[in-house]
Amino acid sequence: MNLYERLTSNRYDYRNGNSSFKFIDFMNTDMIGATDALSFRGEENAIRQIVRSVFSFQRYEPYNPYVFHKVIPSARNIHPNEAFLIEDGEICRFNPKGNCFEMIGFSERHKGKLWIVIASELWRIMKFYGEFGLALSLLDVGHIQAHLKLKLVAAGYEKAILLEGINGKHLSNCLGFSDSSACIGCVIDLSEYLGKSEEEPIPENYRMISYTIKRKYDYEDEIRRYPAVINFLKQVEVSRRVRIAQSEAAKKMCSVLRYELLRNSGHSTQGLFSTLDRIETDTVMRYATATAGYIREYLDNGIRFRICFLYRAIDGQNYLIQVSGEGILRLESLESVHRESLLHDTFEHINMNSIPLDVFILYQRDPICSEDNNIRQAHIGAGEISQYISLMAAVDGFFARPMKNFNDLNIMKLMGSDQESDSIIYTTIIGKENHYNYVFKLQGGNGA
Ligand SMILES: Cc1cc2nc3c(=O)[nH]c(=O)nc-3n(C[C@H](O)[C@H](O)[C@H](O)COP(=O)(O)O)c2cc1C
Repeated sequence: MNLYERLTSNRYDYRNGNSSFKFIDFMNTDMIGATDALSFRGEENAIRQIVRSVFSFQRYEPYNPYVFHKVIPSARNIHPNEAFLIEDGEICRFNPKGNCFEMIGFSERHKGKLWIVIASELWRIMKFYGEFGLALSLLDVGHIQAHLKLKLVAAGYEKAILLEGINGKHLSNCLGFSDSSACIGCVIDLSEYLGKSEEEPIPENYRMISYTIKRKYDYEDEIRRYPAVINFLKQVEVSRRVRIAQSEAAKKMCSVLRYELLRNSGHSTQGLFSTLDRIETDTVMRYATATAGYIREYLDNGIRFRICFLYRAIDGQNYLIQVSGEGILRLESLESVHRESLLHDTFEHINMNSIPLDVFILYQRDPICSEDNNIRQAHIGAGEISQYISLMAAVDGFFARPMKNFNDLNIMKLMGSDQESDSIIYTTIIGKENHYNYVFKLQGGNGA
């Protein structure tokens, strides 16, 4: 079985033999001796403001692991992606806990560059999930990448370029990671805009950091267990440069950002159920059409995605709308749907029967692309689509919870999909949140 299959349809077979303490808290990502990169600067430039707005905590409760809420899903903060900025060789990291940019090094090789880099200490999540942690981390990258793209386009940086297949080893070292432990998720090149801000240049004496400050912990001792992932991380050089947005029409789609602070996975309750179990066809149609638009305008590889919206309409009937980047493919009505069988979580704490809308994101593997590329494109693309859908849901006051813990076989059966060519990469369930910390007890499914 290859890595793609182990990360998708066979992910429940993951083995995880590690039990190190190091995952415990994001405090362990602290870097010794980092300095506040803003202390010698005046106003924060627009790019930093964008990075800060995507990565800063909107809600944070130190003793509640479920509350590390940001505009992108935090997934209990065991998902380890972080943001770095490289500005004319100066490297800093955004530290959400301190809500500050920390200067961590200077790289001669990156003079003249203005890059946003998203990277993760992958082994932190692999403690829980083994190899499968790679899939979760790449989905997170998708959420972050979508949000950054939208913010950049909204702020007029539509000429920004996504660099794919970057030299992971050198860049990881610059960011303070040990040689083989970082997953470079995304690099957005904004060099076109370097030096166009009013910001003061960095004083010479601050450039004394000629080496990169290292992280407090590294995971070198624990990584050898997953050689396929180590190979995956060894990207060699930039192989592709892609515009973050395809056309002028992309700008219009940024209007979903106005409700970004209301994005919500419905995580404040222990159980999850929706107080509204039906939804208007017009609303779902609107989401479906806009999702097709997002795929067209923002996803260079969008042709391989198919999105299925399963909903219970106001008339109580079940419908399925399927879309691709080309638009709506099909609207059909379904006899009955056993919603509880679609997710594994459902028997523990999620009442699927109460949820009016479920979205399934399917990817068709590209036979000419390498396995690694398929893994990246499938997961990052699916994360992007889920983020866009979550933002649309927020505009209407819905929660949208991204879900990886779904039941592939049952969803495939419902979609009438061919498991040979399609994989379900991600799902998102949407409904109206109950705000009263209601602990829900399942009564057993009625198959509505
Ligand atoms: C890649 C990914 C996979 C997730 N899978 C699940 C899941 O299987 N079940 C679930 O209840 N929540 C899942 N979540 C949602 C998290 O539980 C949610 O992000 C977390 O509770 C924090 O809430 P917030 O996103 O509103 O900040 C997932 C989130 C991400 C990013």
